[in-house]
Amino acid sequence: MGIYAEELRMTAKSMIQKGKGILAMDESNGTCNKRFDVLGIPTTEASRQAYRELILTTPGLSDYVSGPILYDETIRQTSKAGVPFLKVIADAGMIPGIKVDTGAKDMAGHPNEKVTEGLDGLRDRIAEYYQMGARFAKWRAVITIGEGIPSRACIEANAHGLARYAALCQEGGLVPIVEPEVLIDGDHTLERCYQVTDETLDAVFSQLYTQGVAYNQMILKPSMVIPGKACAQQATVEQVAAATVRCLLKNVPATVAGIAFLSGGQTKEQSSAHLNAMNKLFGDQLPWPVTFSYARAIQQPALDYWSGKDENVKEAQKHLLERAKFNSLASKGEYSSDLEKQLTAV
Ligand code: 13P
Repeated sequence: MGIYAEELRMTAKSMIQKGKGILAMDESNGTCNKRFDVLGIPTTEASRQAYRELILTTPGLSDYVSGPILYDETIRQTSKAGVPFLKVIADAGMIPGIKVDTGAKDMAGHPNEKVTEGLDGLRDRIAEYYQMGARFAKWRAVITIGEGIPSRACIEANAHGLARYAALCQEGGLVPIVEPEVLIDGDHTLERCYQVTDETLDAVFSQLYTQGVAYNQMILKPSMVIPGKACAQQATVEQVAAATVRCLLKNVPATVAGIAFLSGGQTKEQSSAHLNAMNKLFGDQLPWPVTFSYARAIQQPALDYWSGKDENVKEAQKHLLERAKFNSLASKGEYSSDLEKQLTAV
């Protein structure tokens, strides 16, 4: 057992405490700028700082969010008043996390497939982030469904990377969020998504086992089992929830500390409804807390409203808080689309 075992267990427990989830705001500068570009927001460090300050200073955010996932630029920034973001987070009673992968890169010899990089020097970066105050980390692997893909090579390389990352995190005192994302892009069916997610999770847990990762000191961040966006046969909320739960129960050891989903390009309403259905319909079968670790499904309405304008900050924060609250309700099986319609109509 590692020297951080007890601390990691406690941190993981706090991250997935009842009614709370994780807020992903760890977009790399490239991704953040892409989202800004669409809205005509200047793609500068000052804009990124202002936007992240808007998020982190949202009153009441910590009622629904246990911790934000930051990017390297953000973890070093301060509010306009000069308060380090890490202090803003700690004062709100939240736990700071940090993205540590360096991106999904084209995989050699495997057209249209990606492998996530970032293991070089990772031990030292983890030590620095821990010393700064971060207590958990994230690494995202990407699996693409298409003609003849994913290959076994892609699944194994990504699973291996995730496990090596997770082991280094636990050695250095950060709870690893292990994120194997099966992309929603494409015209594949729900059954095909199930098959690929099943094979991916099986490979990931096999590698985690081989690398000696402690399951009760990690969080799994999976994608849901859902038809591709361009699939003619879309699924009901109940079908997505049932298939996702079946796949998780088959592959995820009961001792894993918690599951926190990504939203992956689903609409904000879908993301809440699917999470809700899993907890409401299958809650009694789930051995782990099942919650959210969304980026777009929480942030997008706030970002759209803000559009880079100071005068919109307060109203944008209300939009952010509203989505955080809906997803908190969903993590308890207490969300409904009727409730959403009622509350957002006013
Ligand atoms: P989305 O919820 O927008 O998919 O983002 C989650 C995330 O952290 C991706 O790595």
